[in-house]
Amino acid sequence: MSQSRRIRMLLDELSWAEKLGQLQIVFRPDLHDAEQLVRDGIGSVFWPRSAAATNALQRVAVEETRLGIPVLVGLDVIHGHRTIAPVPLAQAASFDPSVVRDLARLAAAEARSAGVTWTFSPMVDVSRDPRWGRVVEGYGEDVHLTAEMGRAMVRGYQGETLAASDAIAATAKHFVAYGQPEGGRDYNTVDASEHRLRNVHLEPFRAVVDEGAASVMAAFNTVGGRPMHANRRLLTDVLKSEWGFGGVIVGDADGVRNLIPHGVAGDLAEAVRVACVAGLDVEMGGAPSDAQAAELGPDRLDPARVDDAVARVLALKEALGLFDDPFVPEGDERTEPTEDARRLVRTAAARSSVLLTNDGTLPLSNPPRVLVTGPYAESTDHLGAWTQSFAAGARSIADELRSRMPRTDLRVIPAVGFLDGHDGIPDAVAAARDRDVVLVFAGEPSTLSGEAASRSDLRLPGRQEELIRQVAATGVPVVVVLENGRPLVVADWIDDAAAVVEAWHGGTEAAAAIVDVLLGDAEPAGRLPMSFPRSVGQVPIHYAHESTGRPATTGGMLTEASVDIGLHGPDNVHEQYTSKYLDLELGPQFAFGHGSGYAAFTHGTPRVSHGEIPLEALERGETVGIDVVVTNTSDRSGDEVVQAYLEDVVSSVAPPVRRLVAFERRTIEPEAP
Ligand code: GLC
Repeated sequence: MSQSRRIRMLLDELSWAEKLGQLQIVFRPDLHDAEQLVRDGIGSVFWPRSAAATNALQRVAVEETRLGIPVLVGLDVIHGHRTIAPVPLAQAASFDPSVVRDLARLAAAEARSAGVTWTFSPMVDVSRDPRWGRVVEGYGEDVHLTAEMGRAMVRGYQGETLAASDAIAATAKHFVAYGQPEGGRDYNTVDASEHRLRNVHLEPFRAVVDEGAASVMAAFNTVGGRPMHANRRLLTDVLKSEWGFGGVIVGDADGVRNLIPHGVAGDLAEAVRVACVAGLDVEMGGAPSDAQAAELGPDRLDPARVDDAVARVLALKEALGLFDDPFVPEGDERTEPTEDARRLVRTAAARSSVLLTNDGTLPLSNPPRVLVTGPYAESTDHLGAWTQSFAAGARSIADELRSRMPRTDLRVIPAVGFLDGHDGIPDAVAAARDRDVVLVFAGEPSTLSGEAASRSDLRLPGRQEELIRQVAATGVPVVVVLENGRPLVVADWIDDAAAVVEAWHGGTEAAAAIVDVLLGDAEPAGRLPMSFPRSVGQVPIHYAHESTGRPATTGGMLTEASVDIGLHGPDNVHEQYTSKYLDLELGPQFAFGHGSGYAAFTHGTPRVSHGEIPLEALERGETVGIDVVVTNTSDRSGDEVVQAYLEDVVSSVAPPVRRLVAFERRTIEPEAP
């Protein structure tokens, strides 16, 4: 990696202790403590909650340390800084990378104006296990979709140059395979084959590294028995050597300390040493400072490795323009959403929503009497996981409906909570009887997804399912709007509803976006980025599965007859010995890519540019084009998401039954009458 003259000079000047200081980022809620740490030579800190406080830290770094090296200021800007966008899983459902890029751009502008220069985002961990709470933070089960959304995030965060006043350094995380924990339990063991690593988990990281992500964060988990914070083969041999990654590898919070309970380090100094040797550059949590300094001298840590890590950190500071001007104009700090920002996240939330089912009840056609029920009727908890305390709040859906449907007779009876069930169900059922439509706003509170938020039961929590079934039993059409951070099991009530919209946690303008969708001012034309299982017993479940040697063609539905004659009996023995569950229909409740909208489309026969194309041509970079004519046969404008899948019929290894290779969302006007 070429080094600037400044970096070479600093590497010569820096003492050993000062070099180790540059290789740490610490959390410190109070400014006084943070200032002392910076004075003592720490190279990076977490954002101290304002532009003014950030400038104070930079002043200490520049004026009160021997070499005056400014600090990196890190923060988890995951889906917005002040103005909160839909959660990343929702953004994936938009199937629109331009939306994702624009949201990241907004987040970067707000964050950099406050002095943040480094975000720990995007998370590009592919996951096929909705029990894992962090699926909310990623882009779902598909490699290509995750890669494209991750690239869009990097473009949005980093812009054309990191030195710009609205750019922040992106961090691809969590490297690698964090989305495949055994049991779907966060932080749990991952045992992924080289085949699975290369064909699934590494791909999106390769994409965002190619897109120029400034840093990569190591994952908490082991891969094949080796914790990622001490995994030299993947951190150095693959990420740095094979891919040529020249940025910074940062540890996750206390990930180096965790090597002790992982059982691969006997004490803190050994943990720091094995992580440094493996290729980690910056430790998150202050472990080197807490370890015995004598244990981390130049005789115990390879000076060349330390210099390489310091050079990477200094290069990032240089690319951010911090040596030229580490300060931010405090008067420019964007502390409140602008109207444009609100409009952007509102549009994004609507574009991210997915119409799971609809018998025509949606969009609403001015029903005169409406019951509004469910825990999300009056809740303002729309922001989702990974939202900071200083984020701009959201209004309730009930308030939004009151302002948008002033002439409608609205009755609002939440009836149940998210988890416990204060029993307002009888009141809701009684109220439903004289209504024209019931709107049930259901889902998971934000705290049920995100880090350390795995669930063993994927159904709606509390008594929400009971509420849906009982109001539906009145015969009044029921529309269910879901706000959640993961795919749910909806089998027990989905057929009772007239329409179901998956709105996810939609952020600061979630209520407005949901009402836009219900009234038809926007359409729920997103597509599912993750399969919805019929049962948690199906998990992990995804569309790009292998065929297996005995693919089933019908589900194994248990009946008395089937039990009596040994399931299928002699007339269909081949079906009996196939890969399925005896007590479930085949496949998920809703598959990856599922969704529709309010318009209707027909699709012509796809035309492929090549009948055949030699592999060498593809390896030379030649591409295959697919044209398909899509016609809007409805009477309203609508979005269609065309998806192209590739099937490798015979391969050297068992191929997935198909895999997404391209997608495009287009707004198509209805045919002229
Ligand atoms: C957390 C998360 C990581 C985050 C880091 C800093 O434990 O795993 O995604 O960036 O700590 O907050």
